[in-house]
Amino acid sequence: MHRAKVLLIDDDDDFLEATALLLSAQGYAVVQAKNGQEGFAKVKHESPDVVVCDLMMTYKTEGIDTARVIEEDAGSRGIPVILVSGAYREELPALFKQNKPRTVKAVLEKPLHPEELLRTIEQLLADRRQHTETLARDVERMVEKWRGVPGSLVMILHEIQKHFRYVPRQAAFEISRVLDVPLARIYEVLTFYNYFKLEAPGKHQISVCMGTACYLKGAPQLLSEIKRILNVEEEHSTTDGLFHLQVVRCLGCCGLAPVITIDDTVHGKVQVEQIHGILAEYMKKNEEVTA
Ligand code: FES
Repeated sequence: MHRAKVLLIDDDDDFLEATALLLSAQGYAVVQAKNGQEGFAKVKHESPDVVVCDLMMTYKTEGIDTARVIEEDAGSRGIPVILVSGAYREELPALFKQNKPRTVKAVLEKPLHPEELLRTIEQLLADRRQHTETLARDVERMVEKWRGVPGSLVMILHEIQKHFRYVPRQAAFEISRVLDVPLARIYEVLTFYNYFKLEAPGKHQISVCMGTACYLKGAPQLLSEIKRILNVEEEHSTTDGLFHLQVVRCLGCCGLAPVITIDDTVHGKVQVEQIHGILAEYMKKNEEVTA
């Protein structure tokens, strides 16, 4: 039977030892690392089910940066992270501002209460199990539809992307299991075609037109400003999942150059100074919805 595996990342030997003892006694397999770099290497090699990571190790925000690296890695981003923090807890909202990695599912205060830690791990594992079961059923249905058809792997991946809007890591695992194809082969196909997305697209799609008219009227400056404000690169989503940024060629309304669109809304004759206000509207709406 599969024993759920927990990776502990902390530079405090006492914490590692005590927490490992607690979790082992509950039947978990435990792996340990003493800093973010070593922790990420173990994420890659050990594929833990949950990561428990200290906020401050070699430097103040190493735990957040480690969670972000896990999130940005296509093969690891579904693994939930529990951030534990003693110092700087009151600064966490500021440290997270626009920047909370989606992979951070809980924040617990040190010294940890054993029951709270166990309850949180159990809840995250239950959420993952439920998510995995639903996803496995969806993937099996799509695999059956294309089974035996030449080029079926690509067709299945197309279907999965259509369904989820990207190809989740867990879906790749399921295809590998059901089709008995190595995971490496699936990622070979996924990374060969630009079409496939390995991360969940942002809630709002920003398209910056780089067609000739827009380019000449200042689109590169608009793009730089958006990237600066959102701290995001082209073809990527912001870490909070709110925006996805892409560059397109001529949106067909050159008279309005420079043009950006956000979802279905066209913003024409945009000035660099207006970018902050335009984005702020969407952020505000999102805060109202999630408040
Ligand atoms: S070049 Fe941007 S809309 Fe045509």
